Amino acid sequence: MKNLSKLKSKFIPVNRPKVFSNDIKSVVKALRENWISGDGPYVKKFEENFAKFHKKKYAISVSNGTAALEIALKSFNFKKGSEIIIPAFSIISTALCVVKNNLKPILVDVDLDSWNMSPEEIIKKINKKTKAIIITHIYGFPVDMRRVLKIAKRKKITIIEDAAEVIGQKYNNKLCGSFGDVSTFSFYANKHITTGEGGMILTNNKRIFEKSKSLRNLCFGSDNNRFNHEDIGWNYRLSSLQAAMGISQLKKINYLVKRKREIGKIYYKYLKYNKFIKIQDQSLKYAKNIYWVFGVLVKPNNKFTRDLIVKKLLKKNIQTRNFFYPMHKQNIFKRLKIFKRKIKLPNSEFLSRNGFYLPSGLGITNKEIIYTCKVLNTILKK
Ligand SMILES: Cc1ncc(COP(=O)(O)O)c(C=O)c1O
Repeated sequence: MKNLSKLKSKFIPVNRPKVFSNDIKSVVKALRENWISGDGPYVKKFEENFAKFHKKKYAISVSNGTAALEIALKSFNFKKGSEIIIPAFSIISTALCVVKNNLKPILVDVDLDSWNMSPEEIIKKINKKTKAIIITHIYGFPVDMRRVLKIAKRKKITIIEDAAEVIGQKYNNKLCGSFGDVSTFSFYANKHITTGEGGMILTNNKRIFEKSKSLRNLCFGSDNNRFNHEDIGWNYRLSSLQAAMGISQLKKINYLVKRKREIGKIYYKYLKYNKFIKIQDQSLKYAKNIYWVFGVLVKPNNKFTRDLIVKKLLKKNIQTRNFFYPMHKQNIFKRLKIFKRKIKLPNSEFLSRNGFYLPSGLGITNKEIIYTCKVLNTILKK
């Protein structure tokens, strides 16, 4: 602990992003060239590079991952009330895009091993009204989606793949975000690559590409009738400055994924013997963890609750974040009566009640990780 003692008074944020000198150069270059809006060569290049990396035909950059989901779903124009399968354990954006599009979210529970949507539960929920499944990869592991993809193909159910938390991850050796009919991404400051705020949509479908591009940009009319709009659109454009950062970040994706794995490996090494907690595995049958965050699940016991541990860590200047809140328990959805009152999703509820994640941003140092583990282990010993 000797050379870690300096860290005692230093605040360790849950996410410290990493900005590289090449990111700064790229953004400054765009600024000097007067490319600052959501139009121009930087946006185009970022989209092209991102599509190419995922071996997809079309990319549409947007202002964030929430916008990407809203547009992706809207672009299919499903009939009002169609059923869309989503995980109960996810960011609220996953359900919001369904509700805002006047569609019906159908929740599935997650597996306790992977913390991801259970393929069996997805399959159980498929029926004649199912129009799409939003496959949402959570906390660094992909959904085990092989059987789901097969069934969806046979039944002509659309797959929207949300790869916000797994940029650079592979499922059976193929990049996540390349499986969906449409895939969405977020480049928020805590993602594997970041543009501060930002998002992307990928597809091979030309019609969906054209529609999404139009929806992101207020559905402007054609050239000589620009201000006569064709549909209800949004201004969800990504700026050239963000795109300039995205171009340079994407070049580093292999390194960034490697570094995330290293962060996970150090946490794993120092926490694996702690009997009060369960941490994610380093790998599953079909993927190696790329640790979007380093999650900790407090095992039920009489001594410590998640909330107490988190409070004690904060007292030691270590910031954490609780796991997602289950979708069916969200105040707003209860008020709107979106889900049945008695719906039971025990695994999502369990994770939400007992899980939190430790500082895991790409800007964290190895010393900070080791210090965090030592503090956590000491708290749990007392
Ligand atoms: C799985 C998932 N989807 C979508 C989003 C929304 O992305 P954004 O914050 O860029 O709107 C997030 C954000 O963390 C996410 O984790």
